[in-house]
Amino acid sequence: MIRIHPSLLSADPLHLGDALTAVSAADGIHLDLMDGHFVPTFTFGPWLAAAVCRASQLPVEAHLMVSNPERHLEALARGGVRQLIVHQEATAHLHRLVSEIHRLEARAGVAINPGTPVETLVDLLGELDLVLVMSVDPGWGGQAFWPGALAKVRRLRQMGFPGEIELDGGMDETSAPKVVAAGATTLVAGSYIFEGDDLPARRLAALRRAAEGAPAGRS
Ligand code: DX5
Ligand code: ZN
Repeated sequence: MIRIHPSLLSADPLHLGDALTAVSAADGIHLDLMDGHFVPTFTFGPWLAAAVCRASQLPVEAHLMVSNPERHLEALARGGVRQLIVHQEATAHLHRLVSEIHRLEARAGVAINPGTPVETLVDLLGELDLVLVMSVDPGWGGQAFWPGALAKVRRLRQMGFPGEIELDGGMDETSAPKVVAAGATTLVAGSYIFEGDDLPARRLAALRRAAEGAPAGRS
C-alpha cells in the first residue's frame, strides 16, 4: 500500500484543524520545519508540532529544514512526533543524530537535496527507517517535480535499502505513479491536496488512485 502524507505547509495556517479533519483518510501528517537559515523561509516549530499531534489521530512526521537539527529533536519527540527527518546537508554528525532519534523512540529518517548523491548514505542505510528524497529544492511548496529524483529512488533500491522511501515535492497525478514505479513507498503532497480545484479529501483520494495505478478521476 502506498502511504500519502499531506503537507500542512499548503494548508490555511488559520484553519489547520479543519485541514487535519479534511485529510483524516491519509496515512500520516507531514510538518515542514523551516528556520530562515538552512532554507530562507520560516514555518512551524515544536510548539505547533505538539498541537498538531494532539489534534490528529494520524502519525505526525517532522521534516527539519533547519540548521542545528539536534537542538529540536527532543522537543519534537516529547510533543508526540513519531518520525523525525533530518537533512544530510544540515549536520556533520548524521550518525549521532540518527542514534539520538532512536534513543527518543522515534523513527529516523534522512532527507537529501537534489544535489546530494544517495551514495553518501551507504554506510548508514542499515540504521535508517526511511530516506526522504527531495524532488524539489527545499523551502517552498508548489514547485515543479524534479525528474532526477526517480533515478535516486532506483539507486537506493539497487543499494539494497529495504525501508520506506518518501518523495517530497511536486507530487501530482502525473509524478505519483512514476515515483511509485521507481520504488517509493510514501508520497508527500502539499499544494496538490490543499490548493487544488477540489476539496482536499477528494484530491487526496485522487492522488491515491493515481499512485496505485488506477486511472485518475474524481470520486
Ligand atoms: C518543500 C517541503 C514540502 C512541500 C511540498 O520544501 O519540504 O513538504 O510542502 O509541497 P508541494 O507538494 O506543493 O510540492
Ligand atoms: Zn517536506
